[in-house]
Amino acid sequence: DKGGYKHFMAKEIFEQPSVLSNALGHYLGEDDTVVLPGDNVDFSKVDRLTMVACGTAYYACFTAKYWFEKLARLPVEVDIASEFRYREPPIVKGTTALFVSQSGETADTLAALRYCKDKADRIVSVVNVPESSIARESDLALPIHAGVEVGVASTKAFTCQLNVLLMLALKAAQDRGTMTPDAIRDAIGQLRALPGILNAAMDRDRTLAAAALKLSESRDVLFLGRGLMYPLALEGALKLKEISYIHAEAYASGELKHGPIALIDKTVPVVVMAPKDSLFDKTVSNMQEVMARGGKVLLITDAAGAEIAGPDVWQTVIMPKVPEIISPLLYALPAQLLAYHTAAAKGTDVDQPRNLAKSVTVE
Ligand code: F6R
Repeated sequence: DKGGYKHFMAKEIFEQPSVLSNALGHYLGEDDTVVLPGDNVDFSKVDRLTMVACGTAYYACFTAKYWFEKLARLPVEVDIASEFRYREPPIVKGTTALFVSQSGETADTLAALRYCKDKADRIVSVVNVPESSIARESDLALPIHAGVEVGVASTKAFTCQLNVLLMLALKAAQDRGTMTPDAIRDAIGQLRALPGILNAAMDRDRTLAAAALKLSESRDVLFLGRGLMYPLALEGALKLKEISYIHAEAYASGELKHGPIALIDKTVPVVVMAPKDSLFDKTVSNMQEVMARGGKVLLITDAAGAEIAGPDVWQTVIMPKVPEIISPLLYALPAQLLAYHTAAAKGTDVDQPRNLAKSVTVE
C-alpha cells in the first residue's frame, strides 16, 4: 500500500518524521538517558570501534564515525564490507565490531561479521530485520524500527540507522564521561524535536522538485560536503545515480582543488550541502571556486548560510536551522527528495531501478 503516494519511495520519505519519532522512543530511558534495548554495551571498556557495511548503510557508518570521534573521543575505523573481508585486517584487543545492514542478509557484510567473530571483543549489529542472519549471529542486535522498506533505494532505513548510531555515540559519550549528563540530555532533546522540524521541512518538496527538473537534464552531477555533510554528499550522489541513472559523484569539499575541479563547467551542476556550521566559511570558498569557473551551484543550506552565500548561487534550498550534530538526519531529506524528483522527471522506475536488488545476498 503506497498510502496515496505515487511510489513507495515517496511514502517512505514522507513517513520519516513519524517513523523516527517512534524509533527514538525505543532507545530512551527515564529522564532522557540513552538505554539500549537488550544487553548493555559499556563503552568505557571499548578502546576502538570497527564499523563495516555496504552502500547506504556504509554511509550511515561513515557519518557515525564523526559522531563517535567527536562526542565520545572513541577511535573509529569504517570500511566497505567487500574490501574489509578480503583484506583480513588485524583486529586489536579492545575492539568492538559493528555491522550495519537494513536487510541483515547482505553477503559481504555477513562474511565480514563472521571474520570478526573470534577476533573482536564483541559483535554488535544495527539492523532493520531482527530475524535476519546478521542479527542472529551478533552478540547484540540493535533494531532500527524503520518498518518494512519496499523502495529499493534506501531512505527511511538510512535515517533510522543514523538515529540508532547517534544514540550509540551519545551512550558512548555517557559511559566515557566525554559529555556531561546535561549536554547529553540537550542532544536527546534536539533529537526529540527533530520529527517536528522534519515535518516543517517537507514543504521544501516543491523547491526541490523544481531544482530536480533542471538536474534531470544533466549528464553528470557533483556533490560536495565537508565534515558531517561529506557522508551525506556521498549518500546524495548514490541516491541520484541509483534511481535517475545520472552519473553523480561526491567529494569532500576540501578535495575539490585536488582534481575534481577540472570537471567544472556550466553543464555540470554542483550540489553543495552546507548548513551554516563551524566549517561553512571554508565550504563557501570552495563554492566560489566552482562559480568562478562557470559551475552551477545548487546550495542546500539554512537561512544564515543563504545570506552569506549571496545571490550568485544558481539555486538555493533553505532548510530549517538545527544543531550541528543532528544535521545529517535533516539533510538526508533534501538529498532523497532531489533524487526522487529527478528520477520522477526522467520517468525511471523509482521503486525498482534497473539492475538493483533490495537484498544483495550474493557477493
Ligand atoms: C542504496 C541501497 C544499498 C544498500 C546496500 C546495503 O539505496 O539501498 O546501497 O544500502 O545494498 O544493504 P543492507 O543495508 O541491506 O545491508
